[in-house]
Amino acid sequence: MSQCAAIIAAAGSGERFGATLPKALITLGNRTLIEHAVAALAPIASEIVICAPAGYEKQIQELVGNDITVVVGGTTRSESVRAGIAALTGNNKYVLVHDAARALATTDLAERVLAALKKGESAVIPGLDLVDTVKSVDASGHVSATPDRASLRRVQTPQGFDLDVLKKAHATGADATDDGALVEAIGHKVLIVNGEERALKITTPADLATALSMLGASSEFRTGVGVDAHAFAEGRELWLAGLHWPNETGVDGHSDGDVAAHAICDALFAAAQLGDLGSNFGIDKPEYAGASGLTLLKETLQKITAASYVISNVSVQIIGNRPKLAGRRSEAISTLSAALGGANVSVLATTTDGMGLTGEGRGIAAIASALLIKQG
Ligand code: CTP
Ligand code: MG
Repeated sequence: MSQCAAIIAAAGSGERFGATLPKALITLGNRTLIEHAVAALAPIASEIVICAPAGYEKQIQELVGNDITVVVGGTTRSESVRAGIAALTGNNKYVLVHDAARALATTDLAERVLAALKKGESAVIPGLDLVDTVKSVDASGHVSATPDRASLRRVQTPQGFDLDVLKKAHATGADATDDGALVEAIGHKVLIVNGEERALKITTPADLATALSMLGASSEFRTGVGVDAHAFAEGRELWLAGLHWPNETGVDGHSDGDVAAHAICDALFAAAQLGDLGSNFGIDKPEYAGASGLTLLKETLQKITAASYVISNVSVQIIGNRPKLAGRRSEAISTLSAALGGANVSVLATTTDGMGLTGEGRGIAAIASALLIKQG
């Protein structure tokens, strides 16, 4: 019995990351951020509560299994942690509070925090030295002070507390960006132990790339190209780049005819050497008849993930006179990215100066490229 519970704050929307799905559900390597966080704490926590974004409780519960409690988080991180505290049922003396966004924090780090609690500390948080000098600034943007860098730490999670102390700190209903600050505010000493670079908070896609390299992904890169074209067909709805385009003529096809999504699937299959769209979802597989481009992208992601590939980036160029993409480019990017587990996606469009099938206005084509990284 470890005497230790864990609360994982995962209810944020990941606004700075910019995907259309919550950050905790972004894929890093072979699993989502929330699954990484659970894997790090499960060996030492006798009870784990996850604070999920509203509407994603079920999806997260299915990912982590029924031994873990999933509750809906709040509108601030502190409120989410309070929802987590309220859901604890075990009789644990200690609690670790962790961010799903710090997916690669190790079990070792959690053990170091817990060990200090067991030695009698009531609040223990991991911290690292600063590389940059930090300034305090006033409202006019002028520097008001230069704190001594040697006395500063950038802090991480998991943060460990005596459970009664954490409850008291949160009973005030206050908000802070970490739990250590709330415990400090009610007059308890907070000890810093050595943190780890791996426990970085994944905030932007660039952080995800850093985390991926920390995960020990091999540097074996594979590229692939995919092309698709469909002719316009009166009476069909147009689906393109994962979006519905009302008032535009649709195209012929076995599925929804989303040439951008199909070209991306082929580029991914090409890079992973897993055949092509036809061999994976072709007419001999009736279950894919009428499947949406987004469904095919999600299935393709599953297939390349199962073959140990992760997406570095995907780019797709749509070739045709219409629809005009410019006004919906960011919507297309975030929709395609969400279907690909939060991958980096670029969407471009061009016409062909009146030449060829698409220039004559007979249809739409797309060409995509993908860069994959083979996991070690
Ligand atoms: N978090 C939470 N409840 C909130 C806000 C944040 O549980 N209301 C969690 C996030 O899911 C994350 C951790 O707190 O694991 C740290 O927050 P942050 O990195 O800021 O994540 P997000 O709030 O999702 O990102 P952003 O601020 O860019 O929207
Ligand atoms: Mg936030």
